[in-house]
Amino acid sequence: MQFTTGEQTAVTVYLVSNGQSLDMLSEDVSSYVTSTLDFKGKSNEVFTNLGPNSENVVLVGLGDETKVTKDSIVHAATTATKELNKVKVTEASFKVHSVGDLSESDVLKGMVEGALHADYTFDTYKSEKQTNSLKQVSLLTEVDDASELIEEVVTLLDGVNLTRDLVNTPANDLYPETLAQKVLDKFEGTDVDVQVFDKAQLEEMGADALLAVSHASVKEPRLIVLSYLPLGDSEPAVSLVGKGVTYDSGGYAIKTAKGMAGMKTDMAGAASMIGTMYALANNKVQKNAVAVIAATENMIAGDAMKNGDIIGSLKGTTIEVLNTDAEGRLILADALYYAATKVNSSCIIDAATLTGAVIAALGKNITGTMTNDQALLDEFQAVSKSTGEDMWQLPIHDDFKQQTKGKISDLVNIAVNPSGAGTMFAAAFLEHFVEETPWIHLDIAGTSSSAKGNKYLPDGASGIPVKTLYEFVKAK
Ligand code: BES
Ligand code: ZN
Ligand code: ZN
Repeated sequence: MQFTTGEQTAVTVYLVSNGQSLDMLSEDVSSYVTSTLDFKGKSNEVFTNLGPNSENVVLVGLGDETKVTKDSIVHAATTATKELNKVKVTEASFKVHSVGDLSESDVLKGMVEGALHADYTFDTYKSEKQTNSLKQVSLLTEVDDASELIEEVVTLLDGVNLTRDLVNTPANDLYPETLAQKVLDKFEGTDVDVQVFDKAQLEEMGADALLAVSHASVKEPRLIVLSYLPLGDSEPAVSLVGKGVTYDSGGYAIKTAKGMAGMKTDMAGAASMIGTMYALANNKVQKNAVAVIAATENMIAGDAMKNGDIIGSLKGTTIEVLNTDAEGRLILADALYYAATKVNSSCIIDAATLTGAVIAALGKNITGTMTNDQALLDEFQAVSKSTGEDMWQLPIHDDFKQQTKGKISDLVNIAVNPSGAGTMFAAAFLEHFVEETPWIHLDIAGTSSSAKGNKYLPDGASGIPVKTLYEFVKAK
């Protein structure tokens, strides 16, 4: 999809709030739309009038003007784009104007974002490619720096779509080695330095928790470190740590067929950090960021890790693995400790498809957040309000910290008597490895993908929480 500014095409899209006068239409059509069709500009209501002798407009409702957010603009623009594709329009103009508290720039950015969400398809494995008809979007705007604003959103969405592609790719093609190779390819020629640690190097380093999880897989693990340091390496960086389990069978604590169904997506945390780095570097954001990705499969073999095994870790802490399916926290233990001790981190944010319990707590549309630094999380969640990626904090209560202590090892990876509140136990476990660095944990097990996309997001991988991570680093 290409964007231009100022070109009036045959078809024009207007986003209209509830009760807004339809003075872009002739009087006849306007009264027909409002009285005969009862079009009120309700949220995502659509009116389409196309043809040789018609007004050639698509109207999409925004709802009550005082309640319109950037997210409602994105949603409405997605709705408009899907409608244009449905009726096979190839080029269209979007009329940009301020709405309620939103500036014209915000509306412009929201429209570009929405059009791009609607344009995303994952058809790598389809013999017959599905192409969307809408190829050309012209923004009718008075904003001076429109081209720069458009460019930034397009690049951000390239990052989001990179995340989606990685998450949607099946585990027979995406495993630690191929993930590392894709990262090397994608970041070639950018200002991002990519370091890949292979199995031998991880052994030398002592990343024993990551190695223990990967042990049963024929695919070797990788630790992938992406450094983007436009401010130089003496300035601290935001560290972005991702869970990259390219397939989670559960190990000997094997999942059911139903439970295993979506487990190619168990690397969504890693993919989010990669997509964020891609957007930061290509938009030349002047902030330091380092991503640390732990990539492995969680498989079964005769010499696999078993429930009850005690393993080591990069930190040296011993862990009794009471459940091999709680593998994400094991690999994150090493990746977090790496970020806390080997990277000059101002703060650490990790993203992980860590627990099914977060879905029980918050559903599929809200990311669970946990922290050791309330002010930092408040800042982060304020950003998430503007990106429309819903988040809700869960407490790391002392009780959970107590439950992480082992009887015959330093730590246990699940509670001896699990309470059901597995999301917060997992966070309490992770906190042992951040070494007091200000830290936020994002449990994206519910939000990173869904069979049926939520709101305006595509089916499959959502790209959550790339937008929030990007805007947070940018604002830091
Ligand atoms: N990858 C899963 C978590 C998950 C579940 C992600 C559903 C996406 C959708 C994780 O490794 C896992 O298996 N967690 C277990 C932990 C349990 C054994 C304490 C879980 O949540 O059931
Ligand atoms: Zn698991
Ligand atoms: Zn997992």
